[in-house]
Amino acid sequence: MQKKSKVKKVIVVFGTRPEVIKMAPVIRELQKYPKIFKVSICVTAQHREMLDEMLNLFKIKPDYDLNIMENNQSPFEVTAKVLMNIREVLECQCPDIVLVQGDTTTTLATSLASFYLKIKIGHIEAGLRTTDKYKPFPEEINRRLTSHLADFHFVPTQKAKENLLTEGIKKDNIFLTGNTVIDALFYILKFIKKSKKKLDERFCFLNLKKNKLILVTAHRRENFGKPLENICLALKQLVERNKNIEIIYPVHPNPNVWGVVRKILKDITRIYLIKPLDYISFAYLLHNSHLVLTDSGGIQEEAPSLGKPVLVMREKTERPEAIEASAARLVGTDTVNIVKNVEMLLYNRKIYIKMSKATNPFGDGKASRRIVRILKNVV
Ligand code: UD1
Ligand code: UDP
Repeated sequence: MQKKSKVKKVIVVFGTRPEVIKMAPVIRELQKYPKIFKVSICVTAQHREMLDEMLNLFKIKPDYDLNIMENNQSPFEVTAKVLMNIREVLECQCPDIVLVQGDTTTTLATSLASFYLKIKIGHIEAGLRTTDKYKPFPEEINRRLTSHLADFHFVPTQKAKENLLTEGIKKDNIFLTGNTVIDALFYILKFIKKSKKKLDERFCFLNLKKNKLILVTAHRRENFGKPLENICLALKQLVERNKNIEIIYPVHPNPNVWGVVRKILKDITRIYLIKPLDYISFAYLLHNSHLVLTDSGGIQEEAPSLGKPVLVMREKTERPEAIEASAARLVGTDTVNIVKNVEMLLYNRKIYIKMSKATNPFGDGKASRRIVRILKNVV
């Protein structure tokens, strides 16, 4: 008689908007196998409204909510609170594995706590590197440390795998799966089709027939202060110089971001500053945009799937695959350089077509299936 295998206890821990988006497909896939996995969900709530919005959208009900967010928090507070509060959850759950995602402070602190309790760790979206410890700050160090705490590494690309091998991570523990963000995007695109009328009405203030839409996001800590001011000045110059564009900018609620953005860009014609959007609305705008200006990680991964060129407003990126595929360009935070690159994409059709036709190097929409298949074997 075949021995009945024990149900594997998995706890999925996350705290911010991009983590929910990228974890949701993995959770959904794990929940398909109740005889194999008992899944618990713990949110640290490093983010609050931005997290809750995504939890509602993906219909995820956390079993634990550490509720740690404070206004204008620093990585000190986030690290300390996650580390202290997650201990009880992990001790009470005794999971076979903890799943974390990406490079946030929630990810690092949860991994450290799991290590202290000798619980196995699976790291999703492992292996991204810029090799500059301060760019992005503190994410480059968060993910490097997480790699050395984790047991299983789910990498989105071959390059990420090579990064881990270079750091001495064992080949047998690295699994090339693609990025789960593509799974999430494909899932959400279906809802855009269904809600098209509502979305058209919501964004009817945009003149999409007449003007080209530029979608902007910027929130990175290393861009606080002067770099963010330069970004805003570039946006201002762009609408002044080009009457055929509109800019929409969902502004991150961090006071270091919205304070500067509001000061420079409030009440400027054809610049719309709006609150962070739910994922369906954001994907709708991405779909309707001409190009994207961003310092976000996830958006660099999503935009190529919709054929939208991305100008990355950072000095370095941990996603060089997008640049190699001609889907993205690094433009930094210099005002003149941002304006020059946007105008190039507005008026040079050849370059625009080349960038918009690039294939997405980050995945095929099946990453979560691969991750769960691997978890069935390794846990
Ligand atoms: C964090 C991640 C970053 C990720 C980003 C996604 C770290 C170090 N950084 O940065 O990698 O790209 O999330 O957006 O983990 N706030 C709210 N409501 C919210 C969310 C944030 O008001 O729902 C405000 C609060 O004032 C909070 C501040 O934003 O203190 C900063 O939040 P935090 O998570 O510490 O940093 P992010 O810049 O969002
Ligand atoms: N996003 C969203 N609404 C917004 C801005 C971004 O749903 O108003 C989504 C976006 O599509 C991507 C993710 O949030 O999937 C990226 O999050 P963010 O830029 O905050 O974090 P990063 O990826 O830089 O860590």
